Parts: sequence; C-alpha cells; structure tokens
Amino acid sequence: MKEWWRGGVIYQIYPRSYQDSNNDGIGDLAGITSRLEYISELGVDGIWISPIFTSPMKDMGYDVSDYRDIDPLFGDLKDFDRLVERAHSLGLKVMIDQVLSHSSDQHPFFQASKQDKQNDKADWYVWVDPLPNGAPPNNWLSIFEGVAWEWESRRKQYYQHNFLVSQPDFNFHNPEVREWLKENVKFWLDRGVDGFRLDTVNYYFHDPQLRDNPPRIYDKDNPPVNPYYMQDHVYSISQPENVDFVEELRELLDQYGKTAMIGEISNLDLMAEYTAGDNRLHLAYSFELLGPVFSASHIRKTIEHFFNIAPQGIPCWSFSNHDVIRHVSRWAAHGSSPEALAKQTAALLLSLEGSICLFQGEELGQLETEMEFSELTDPLGIRFWPENKGRDGCRTPMSWDSSLENAGFSEVDPWLPVKNPQLERAVEQQKNKDSVLSFYREMLKFRKNSSALSEGRTVFYDSDEPVLSFSRQSDDQNVVCVFNLSKEEVSLPIEGLKDINNHPLLEAKADGEVLSLGPNGFCFFFGDLDKDIVIQ
Ligand code: BGC
Repeated sequence: MKEWWRGGVIYQIYPRSYQDSNNDGIGDLAGITSRLEYISELGVDGIWISPIFTSPMKDMGYDVSDYRDIDPLFGDLKDFDRLVERAHSLGLKVMIDQVLSHSSDQHPFFQASKQDKQNDKADWYVWVDPLPNGAPPNNWLSIFEGVAWEWESRRKQYYQHNFLVSQPDFNFHNPEVREWLKENVKFWLDRGVDGFRLDTVNYYFHDPQLRDNPPRIYDKDNPPVNPYYMQDHVYSISQPENVDFVEELRELLDQYGKTAMIGEISNLDLMAEYTAGDNRLHLAYSFELLGPVFSASHIRKTIEHFFNIAPQGIPCWSFSNHDVIRHVSRWAAHGSSPEALAKQTAALLLSLEGSICLFQGEELGQLETEMEFSELTDPLGIRFWPENKGRDGCRTPMSWDSSLENAGFSEVDPWLPVKNPQLERAVEQQKNKDSVLSFYREMLKFRKNSSALSEGRTVFYDSDEPVLSFSRQSDDQNVVCVFNLSKEEVSLPIEGLKDINNHPLLEAKADGEVLSLGPNGFCFFFGDLDKDIVIQ
C-alpha cells in the first residue's frame, strides 16, 4: 500500500487562530481537538500544526524557548496527547512544526551562551568577533531586520540571526547541538506524532569561513522592499553539510515506521537535492506557487522543471499558508470573481502531482483580511509597512458561524480581528452544495478516489495562455485536466474530447470536440489510455 504522505493532502492549522476553547482570545489545542471531526469530514489525510511549543511569541511560536513543552497559551502535554489520540481515532495523521535552525533568545541555552566565552553552551550559537573596525564580520542580512548580526556586550562578540534579533541561530557545526536537537525530535516521535514540517530546513548550517554573500540580480528601477532579496545567500544558508543532517533526521524517523518529514525549501533545485533517494526528506514544501504570478506557463514550468530534475522526488504544493497573502486575494487582482477563483484553484491544486498542503480557511474561499497598522502583530509587517503589510492578514481567526460573536472563534476579542468579509464566508454559512466548502469536499473525494490524480504522472499539453492543460496518468486511468486561468471565456478544440457532462465538478460546456470554459472555468474528463488527446 502506498504511504499516506505520498500524494496525500495535509491541512495546515495555525493554532492561534483555529478555535479558542478557554476564551482568552487565542486558539488552543483543546479548540483544535473539538474541530477535528470537521477536518476529517473535509477528506484530508492529516494535519500540520504550526508551532505550539513554549515561546515568548515574538515570531508567534517560531521562536521556541522549550522544545519539549506546550506553551500555556495552547494548553499542556495532556491536551496534546488528547489531540493526537482523537485525530488518530478519526484516521488523521498529525504533523507538527520543528523549528531547529534557531531558538528564542529566551531559551535557557542562549541565556547561558551569551554570558561569556567559557560556559558549557558557549559554542551552541554562532558567535563571531567583530572586524578590527568594530563592524560585523560580513554582509549577511536578516530576513526580518537589517543585518544578520547582533552585538552582545558581555562576550564582545556578534551572534547570527537569520530572522529576528530574538531568534539566534544554532551553531550546527557543533555536534552536541545536532544530537540535542535530534533528541527533541525523538521526544515528539515517542509521543506518537506521524511527522514533522521542518521550518527553514536549509538554514541549519552557515559557512565557517563567513564569506560575503554575492549580490543578486534584481530590477534596479524596482528594487525589492526588503534588502534581504538583493543578495544571493550562498554562504549564510544552504551549505553542503545541511543535507547530511537531514539524512541523520531521516535515519531517526525511519526507526518509527510510517512517519514523514516535509521540509520548507525556497527553490526547486534544493527541493530536488533534499528529496533525492530514499534517505533524505520525504516531501519538499515548495514556495514556487505561493507568489504573485498566476499563469499557465509559470505553473507548467515549475512542475515540469521539478520532475525533470527530481523524477522520483515528491514535492508538496500549496497556494496559501501563514506567511503569504491568501491566494484568492493575491490572484483576484487579475479581475476574477473570488468565488470562481476559489473553486478553480481548489480544482487545480488538488489535481497536481505530489502532495498538497491546504491552509485553514482556504476551504472557505477565505480572503486576506485588510489590516490597519495599529492592528498588526507581525514584526515583518511592522518593519516593512506599508509596502509589505506582513502576515497578519492571512492569520486572522477561522470563521465558524457568522451569527456568533467573532464568528464562533472566541467569546472575547480575538488576538486578531474577524472582519466582515471573513465573517461572511463562515463554515455554517456554506452548507449549500454550491459553496466553496462543498466544492473542496467534492474535489478532495475526487482526488482520493482517482488513482490518476493521487498517484499518476503528469503530461502537459501545449495549450496557449490562459489555458493550462495536462493529463494525470496512472496504470488504469487517464484524467485530462483543463483550466482557463483568466476571467474571459475561452473555447478550444480538443481532439479526443470525451463527454464531460456527467462529471459533478463541471464548470464547462462541450460541443462536439470544442470545449468552452467560462471565467476561471475548468473541466476534467477521462481520456482513453491508448488514444492521444490533442489540445492546442
Ligand atoms: C516560518 C515563518 C517564520 C520563519 C522563522 C518560516 O519560514 O514559516 O512563519 O517566521 O520560518 O522561523
């Protein structure tokens, strides 16, 4: 039987915003547990829960101060065990985030490390002497705030932070650090989790020679909002040793049977390298479809390129997550109706080869929440406002029922507001069969029941923009998938077009061998396995 994660669909939960069970305005583990039935009825294979560990929450939990405990905001270890047990009883796998590249500056080990150069944690973080002129040792930048180096007056040295000043990077060149991190991972495996999403998986090691990163080529008339993107990070991250540590993690996971790791990686070549063979990552989480571009050529190029360089690798695609503008808002800029776009993108994402991550609320066609500066909590948005409004807009609470206070998320004011456009798309209000939510359920069922969609290979047709067309082929099935990515109607001749009218997921009309697709329309049909289909 194929492993659950191969071609599986994973539902990402942002715990602060899923369900508040104790009315403190912040979601928690007991809240998630109370909603697991809803998630299982969607038809996904598992959940990935963003960080729930003890943390000062400077980066909303991606700054861990105790790797083996639950932050009191979310509950405790007993709540976690109950969640895992309930999920398993519903047939859902449970994956949790592991933020290994850096800790919080409040972690006891960093607190010890920064005291002097002699303590037993002195070499656990990346400490370097200043240049003779007092400046940091090189040009490395942080993603969240200016240079990647922060001065510590006790040691009279700088420490490295790829993210916030309060997220010091571990020194992975120290074997004790690596062993200890693996022990932490083991702690959760022993508690029964089915796998991990590895945060910033290529950020573990740095170049010990501390060489300067070279400049990246960018449009000088339109420079990036964040200077981080003016550099090619060839020395600060993605070092060759990094993949060896991934192999060590894999060895550990393999002792636990049916577990899996999804690594967050920022480019296709690294995705291929990190999933090569069967001793590295099970799945590589891609950024390629999380950006502003929504075109047939971009999607085709991304997928074809990945499978060309990694024929056996397994990508994990997603259109939305807790770090980017929700895709319906991001891509509706092309003038499409949010409703049509939400259904079409569900159909598209769930027909891609590889595994899939859905982000909570996308099954409702949820839009990005428009935030005021005064409402922001995300350091990235606060730093780069107004050009980059940060990540709060995609992290606002889940809408359960628009007739209830705060859409049923909490009885008190939540940590981020629930505004009207989000309220209108609540779960309870989407009971009708034409809703986006019903469509996601249908589409998930369609994928699960189709050998081609869940495990078939992809063959693209040479259709022109705005049409994206490909077939997914398994040994016994050929599903042809055609999408009109624009808001204008298109018609196209298809040799071998089969009757599409009996398919429940139809947003299209067939007249002989001519297919018409309305604004953001799409269709699937079953092709003959031994007869060519021609789409132009
Ligand atoms: C997470 C972000 C986080 C960063 C630092 C990521 O890629 O997805 O939410 O801010 O890592 O841990």
